[in-house]
Amino acid sequence: MFVNMKYILDAANRDNYAVMAINCINMEMARAAIEAAEEEHSPIIVQFGVGQMTKMAHPTEMVPMIKAMAERASVPVCLNLDHGPSFEAEVDAIKWGFSNVMIDASSLPYEENVRRSRMVVDMAHAKGISVEAELGHVGQAAEGDGRTADMYTNVEQAVEFVKETGVDALAVAIGTAHGKYPEGFVPKLDFQRLAELKAALKMPLVLHGGSGSGEENIRKAVAGGINKINVCTDAFHAAEKAIKAKWEAEPNTDYLGICMVAEKAVKEFVRDYIRLIGSNNRYTFEAADNGSKE
Ligand code: 13P
Repeated sequence: MFVNMKYILDAANRDNYAVMAINCINMEMARAAIEAAEEEHSPIIVQFGVGQMTKMAHPTEMVPMIKAMAERASVPVCLNLDHGPSFEAEVDAIKWGFSNVMIDASSLPYEENVRRSRMVVDMAHAKGISVEAELGHVGQAAEGDGRTADMYTNVEQAVEFVKETGVDALAVAIGTAHGKYPEGFVPKLDFQRLAELKAALKMPLVLHGGSGSGEENIRKAVAGGINKINVCTDAFHAAEKAIKAKWEAEPNTDYLGICMVAEKAVKEFVRDYIRLIGSNNRYTFEAADNGSKE
């Protein structure tokens, strides 16, 4: 089932679990993610961003392929534009066929973030496409971002932002950062702020920079009201680790063999993540029959 993200996240918000949003830069990653979700009876969000498009994943090839996989799938699958930087990028994404777009104006002044997010919502909703925006700013792990509260999401401002923009999901900054943290570093998340945000907003909340956050933090974030967790670095790492191990053990493994090893590793990683964040067994036939899919 190819669906928008609101369809997936409203159910997650209602039933208190989170859905993985995995950055997929090729067919193997998308297939691994969707197959793992099907086997776990879980919804899944496949996504990629503009930088990844430029390097690896052009939407004219990726979107029809992922849509075809999604339409065949027995579970809800959303295709999300990750960190859309401009109105033009959002228009293009909707034309290409993404079923959710994220507008990221989080490093701009508040009023400009509202203005841009509102414009994207007006345009996307007219086409049945849902929208994620970000308030506060989730920065880069390599630059030490996320360790101080100055970029965290302000609760009162978040309430006003959602009212003014009409976004379907809000990415909040509570202490994570994108990419790889220094060896041994585990981020400290502001769970008090998350509790306040959830109580005030009562809507789907998104955690960016899921990689390297530690299982305990992730479990607590889901319990505290996070409904979508973005994961990129750790998914790539799962594939890289498996490739290295295979080539060390069997140096003559050919290209086909190594692609298969990477795909299997991503699939196992997604399966484990789905179980960690509690989206498994949400889309069984029984669940569909008793209406809890809505
Ligand atoms: P990580 O690479 O830290 O998992 O972040 C991914 C992300 O938030 C994509 O938007």
